[in-house]
Amino acid sequence: MSLESLRYRRGSLRVLNQLLLPQRSCYEQIGGVRQGWEAIRAMQVRGAPAIAIVGCLSLAVELHGGAGMGQGKAGLETFIHDSLRYLVTARPTAVNMARAAEELGAFTSQEAQREEVTAESLRESVIQWAEAMLEKDLRDNRSIGEHGARHLLQASPQDKVTVLTHCNTGSLATAGYGTALGVIRSLHALGCLAHVYCTETRPYNQGARLTAYELVYEHIPATLIVDSMVSVAMKEKGVSAVVVGADRVVANGDTANKVGTYQLAIAAKHHGIPFYVAAPSTSCDLSLAEGAEIVIEERPSQELTDVNGVRIAAPGIGVWNPAFDVTPHELITGGIITELGVFRPEELREALTRAVKGE
Ligand code: MRU
Repeated sequence: MSLESLRYRRGSLRVLNQLLLPQRSCYEQIGGVRQGWEAIRAMQVRGAPAIAIVGCLSLAVELHGGAGMGQGKAGLETFIHDSLRYLVTARPTAVNMARAAEELGAFTSQEAQREEVTAESLRESVIQWAEAMLEKDLRDNRSIGEHGARHLLQASPQDKVTVLTHCNTGSLATAGYGTALGVIRSLHALGCLAHVYCTETRPYNQGARLTAYELVYEHIPATLIVDSMVSVAMKEKGVSAVVVGADRVVANGDTANKVGTYQLAIAAKHHGIPFYVAAPSTSCDLSLAEGAEIVIEERPSQELTDVNGVRIAAPGIGVWNPAFDVTPHELITGGIITELGVFRPEELREALTRAVKGE
């Protein structure tokens, strides 16, 4: 059985509490939008695609329970828009929830305008819209895995590649399979993966706690390293490529991802190692021209100063704890791996625009 970041059936949503992993595997019930927001904010569930899916499904669950149904179609429409606006505020950097809110909001308004649509049928179609996200994300991730694996193998002189990755981009961060970790899974399935190096990913330790857990679970040959070992690993361990995920890829290809990604890209460039970003088109934001416009989330200082509730940093020290950094597009030398194919950063805008037009 594969790992599941969430378990959903109509009217019920449970998320795997990632704060407890790897020691305990415990699914928590999400009864509606407020609980969805809290689970995302507290990082019980995290990873750009999973954030959006849990957000929208928390709304679906609340709608199924009758929320917003008291004041007719217009009341329901307002409830949906308010809920979506609220969900977007949980975490600002990943664009997926904001995109989903925009698209589901537009869909809701369009549906509500149609005379034959009732509050009942509007509710049903919004629930279905949210449910469809699960399958689409899984499909997209499998395509990302295939495109990425093929590209890496074509670019590599070896039959088997060694990949270095950062943070957690696997089943736990998505509806399943994963993005960067999906590429790694696909390589492994093809028998073309020599080894994976995964970083610890301070301060929240998504690499040590979650990616390492997924890699062990999948029997993928892997080694955990501290974040400050990446340059040495590139120099000494035959790393063929670096593959990371993304929280937001903007129009020129600049990419926000887990803090530490930027220095990884610099080190990869120094060592002549291709650096890839793997992300579904739902993580792309063509409304921003460049990375400097991305809002970077700052997390509480305790995530840096404490480990499992025990203070390790000297009392009184100041703390700067941004959760993400921006990698400039010129350092994304391998390409951006999407469900539509692998693109150079400068090709991304056109490729996505063509896809939207169905070309
Ligand atoms: O703070 P997190 O754990 O939500 O950050 C996650 C990442 O940075 C991932 O690399 C990104 O969301 C892609 S997940 C497929």
